[in-house]
Amino acid sequence: MPASAELEAPPSGAMVPAPYLVRRRRRETSDTWTLTLEPLSGEGIAPAPGQFTMLYVFGVGEVPISVSGTDGGRLVHTVRAVGAVSAAICAAKPGAVLGVRGPFGTVWPLREAAGRDVVVVAGGVGLAPLRTAVRALEREHDDYGSVTLLYGGRTPGDLLFRGELEQWRRRGRLAVEVTVDAARPDWKGRVGVVPKLIEGARFDPASAVALVCGPEIMMTFSVTALLDRGLAPERIHLSMERNMRCAVGHCGHCQLGPTLVCRDGPVYSYERLAELMEVREL
Ligand SMILES: Cc1cc2nc3c(=O)[nH]c(=O)nc-3n(C[C@H](O)[C@H](O)[C@H](O)COP(=O)(O)OP(=O)(O)OC[C@H]3O[C@@H](n4cnc5c(N)ncnc54)[C@H](O)[C@@H]3O)c2cc1C
Ligand code: FES
Repeated sequence: MPASAELEAPPSGAMVPAPYLVRRRRRETSDTWTLTLEPLSGEGIAPAPGQFTMLYVFGVGEVPISVSGTDGGRLVHTVRAVGAVSAAICAAKPGAVLGVRGPFGTVWPLREAAGRDVVVVAGGVGLAPLRTAVRALEREHDDYGSVTLLYGGRTPGDLLFRGELEQWRRRGRLAVEVTVDAARPDWKGRVGVVPKLIEGARFDPASAVALVCGPEIMMTFSVTALLDRGLAPERIHLSMERNMRCAVGHCGHCQLGPTLVCRDGPVYSYERLAELMEVREL
């Protein structure tokens, strides 16, 4: 590649935030909200499952947030308030304007998974980056073998998209298993950590593809359980998080070994990650 091509500036949508209107805001849990954003001008963007945008709250700051849904030109983001910027996004009411850059990053390998069983393993707010993939897997279920969603939260009150989980279960195109770490006696579902569900899940380990997202400790134990079931490292895919600034591979803020999560991730195969680091450091 010529040096001039390497130095080419990223497109302006990658560098300059486009104004988006908050159309809708729905509370998911005590600290997590889903926002529907509409571009103030133009047709908006078309992110693929797994990609993220940089969401900018004017005067507060900018953070990476995965796309949890699309609706025509509208963007859906599901955000947990953990600090100044994410709390300001969660507090943005309909009518507020946020800045959007992107979309950025690698995608869930849905094309590679065609014809195979797919097992989706999500923990907590980790279901948000997987939701567009689960929707595509359900919509195009004839193109896949069995599709299984294993989802865990700390408590029943921490589970995202409860209505949609119920719809997915009722329509029966996916096997849906939900578990919580702890619950009061009136909870009728499973109690236990999500990697435990992998032991009994129905998929063909010789060919299945796994998509995993959640807290790093949950991903570590999930990978171990998937490897124990016989899944090959190259068919296990994880979405990684690192603090970000530029999101276009310039600042080095999101470095993961020799890679940059904004450019080479966030979705990596475990085969690639295992080269980069020890499992315990996932
Ligand atoms: C590719 C990508 C996709 C993401 N998608 C989502 C999403 O869909 N929904 C969502 O709620 N969050 C998502 N995040 C995490 C989100 O970006 C952070 O929660 C946010 O940057 C925190 O910023 P803050 O200013 O609110 O809090 P800060 O004050 O910066 O941080 C508050 C706490 O969160 C920790 N933290 C900050 N940034 C991160 C990070 N990137 N990963 C892990 N811990 C962090 C800090 O160490 C601190 O403990 C994603 C992150 C990445 C990299
Ligand atoms: S955020 Fe700047 S290089 Fe990734």
